Amino acid sequence: MSRSAPVRTQDTASAPANADARPAIRARGITKSYGTGAGAVTALDGVDLDIASGRFTAIMGPSGSGKSTLLHVLAGLDSVDSGSIELDGIETTTLKDRELTLLRRDRIGFVFQSFNLLPMLTARQNIVLPLDLAGRRVDEAWLETVVGALGLTERLDHRPAQLSGGQIQRVAIARALVTSPAVVVADEPTGNLDSRTTDEVLDFLRLSVDELGQTVVMVTHERDAAEHADRIISLVDGRIDSDEQAPFTAGGR
Ligand SMILES: Nc1ncnc2c1ncn2[C@@H]1O[C@H](COP(=O)(O)OP(=O)(O)O)[C@@H](O)[C@H]1O
Ligand SMILES: [Mg+2]
Repeated sequence: MSRSAPVRTQDTASAPANADARPAIRARGITKSYGTGAGAVTALDGVDLDIASGRFTAIMGPSGSGKSTLLHVLAGLDSVDSGSIELDGIETTTLKDRELTLLRRDRIGFVFQSFNLLPMLTARQNIVLPLDLAGRRVDEAWLETVVGALGLTERLDHRPAQLSGGQIQRVAIARALVTSPAVVVADEPTGNLDSRTTDEVLDFLRLSVDELGQTVVMVTHERDAAEHADRIISLVDGRIDSDEQAPFTAGGR
């Protein structure tokens, strides 16, 4: 079949490939302190950050550098002292508690170190819990895709006690993905796992980005874990100290 190439004007040819791509999260000038007076601790000290949609971003840094605080304020779990945060196009710093709860429920998936699965529920019941709580119908096709990608199809009727640590964390990832959130946030998701299971979980987070098109932001203090991401942001004393894109050179800077 002979078909001429699509006509491209100079303008469209030079436009960025993904010109309408809005970042999943856009943070500007965010600051956050804990405590007051002489005992005050500055956890975030003026952070500007865009988190690209459909990418895997790692936040690294030493203990106490502000990683968890950053992830929590980005995900609307904690307030900022100043600055602005747009998530999925919504300014979150001015939302009321009730609106924030809905935003977290509908647009964010959470994977935390402590597994937080309910022991009396099966894997499937745990995975669809966020939908049940929201009164939303299960999209069976998407559930099947997520569960298949995470290798959990044969495990859906098992309770957490019948699953390995890696399988439990995969269920937690599936639960974070089941609502097709705008952003999945993970705080040290491999902190409790042995090295083989750690690799497995990181591979599944990677796969959720590459094959399911999700947006993942992961906090870790381990360089090896961070290198599974497309980008590594390093915090020191509540500020961005470096910002690297894959491929990473050994040891970072
Ligand atoms: N709830 C809190 N109350 C008081 N200080 C806190 C609280 N949470 C964190 N901090 C302090 O804020 C700083 C950043 O903490 P955090 O974000 O937990 O760092 P990281 O996750 O990188 O270890 C640290 O100095 C920590 O002690
Ligand atoms: Mg932390």
